[in-house]
Amino acid sequence: MKIEVVNKAIKNIKADCEIILVVDKNFEHKWIEDRDKFKKLGFKGEEDEVLFLPEVDRVYSACSSFEPDDIRVSISNALKCIKKADYKSAKVGLYTKKCPPINARALAEGIVLGSYSFDKYKSKRDKLSLKSIKVSTEDYSGNTYSLDSTKKAIKEGIIIAEATNRAKDIVNTTPFDMTPSKLAEYAKNLSKKLDNVECFIGDEKFLKKEKMGAFLAVAKASTNKPRLIRLSYKPKNAKKRFVFVGKGLTYDSGGLSLKPSDYMVTMKSDKSGASAALHIIKAASELKLPFEVHAIVGAAENMIGGNAYKPDDVLKARSGKTIEVRNTDAEGRLVLADCLDFAQDLKPDYLVDLATLTGACVVALGEYTTGIMGHNSKLKHSISFSAKKSGELTSTLPFNRYLKKLLKSSIADISNISISRYGGAITAALFLDNFIKDEYKDRWLHLDIAGPAFVEKEWGYNQAGASGAGVRMCVYWLKDFANKLKNTHKEVK
Ligand code: BES
Ligand code: ZN
Ligand code: ZN
Repeated sequence: MKIEVVNKAIKNIKADCEIILVVDKNFEHKWIEDRDKFKKLGFKGEEDEVLFLPEVDRVYSACSSFEPDDIRVSISNALKCIKKADYKSAKVGLYTKKCPPINARALAEGIVLGSYSFDKYKSKRDKLSLKSIKVSTEDYSGNTYSLDSTKKAIKEGIIIAEATNRAKDIVNTTPFDMTPSKLAEYAKNLSKKLDNVECFIGDEKFLKKEKMGAFLAVAKASTNKPRLIRLSYKPKNAKKRFVFVGKGLTYDSGGLSLKPSDYMVTMKSDKSGASAALHIIKAASELKLPFEVHAIVGAAENMIGGNAYKPDDVLKARSGKTIEVRNTDAEGRLVLADCLDFAQDLKPDYLVDLATLTGACVVALGEYTTGIMGHNSKLKHSISFSAKKSGELTSTLPFNRYLKKLLKSSIADISNISISRYGGAITAALFLDNFIKDEYKDRWLHLDIAGPAFVEKEWGYNQAGASGAGVRMCVYWLKDFANKLKNTHKEVK
């Protein structure tokens, strides 16, 4: 889908169809020309309502407010409604009152995210007839915004949403087609297409050399051998160093603590953290962010077999700590323990891990919300703030000294599960905390994306399946850092 910015009033733009987002519940706004028909057709403009009038080639989509995420949902609902219609082009105005870039960006994001479909395994692919959307520089109040700033905002929105869509592709791909080595190959190819991005791939031999005993144990039973993947975006004169660590379980069967069949389905999504981390690099490079950004991915398969790691085993992690295995299904934290230790060698200013880590996080927050954990309140607050703007839902979950004690082991330094079944999302994060060195405690954030990473029903502009959770919130967070930097420079001048 092409998104074009046109420097004309909406009524002067030629297109097969017009999309109108109905923010005005009184239907008085001048773009709402068919208000007389609404009553008869029962259109009230309530949340998620869409009215398609083919005789006048217009589609009206309710929009709750001028908040960016309402814009994303509304434009995506409109596109869904005309998906099967025979329009080649559509036009839409700018829905903003004061700050054009944000809502122009949201409009582009809603279009790109909302028109995603994953049809790799379908023999018949639905071809979308809509090829281009023309966005007018005329806004809701009748003002015309600068062509350049609108174009810039649209371009940014496309980059962020495309990175999210590519992250969805990887997660939706089957475990057969996306093994650790295939994921590594994908990352290598991705790096070749991006400016200032390098790729390093470590195989099993490398993991052994690095003494990553926890990571290796998880990967042991699979014939598909593990990989450590590092993508590094290094622009000239980088101002800060960010490291994103992603859980890359290309399949999680649970291992010998085997998952019940119903819970095993969808576990191809256990590589969502990894996919998010890789595509944050894609967006960072395309947006030319002024930071060094690294993605470190621990890719492995958690399987059963004669040489599988077992409950009762004691593992030695890269940091030297010993871990008692009491449940092989708590494998993500084992892989992350070694990857986080490795990541700290890069001396990050900020260290963030993304992982579909616990079912407990989904129980606590519901399917749509990411759990944010860490020691630094300011940092947690800043990522929550950026996430909100990006449209991703988050909530913070608090650490406490009592939960920490539940990970004690009588035979090793720590157990891989808590002795209590309550507070599982937090105890998993507290397990990871054991592998964060003192100097990085306040620079570390843990994002449990187990809920939103993969939802089997569509929601808002997200299709059933992968959502690319984590990409948008982290990229917005990085962008907010970049803007802060720009503003402090301005103040100094
Ligand atoms: N990959 C799962 C967590 C998960 C659950 C992700 C549901 C997405 C949806 C993780 O490896 C796991 O199995 N965790 C266990 C931990 C338990 C054994 C302490 C869980 O959450 O049940
Ligand atoms: Zn598991
Ligand atoms: Zn897992």
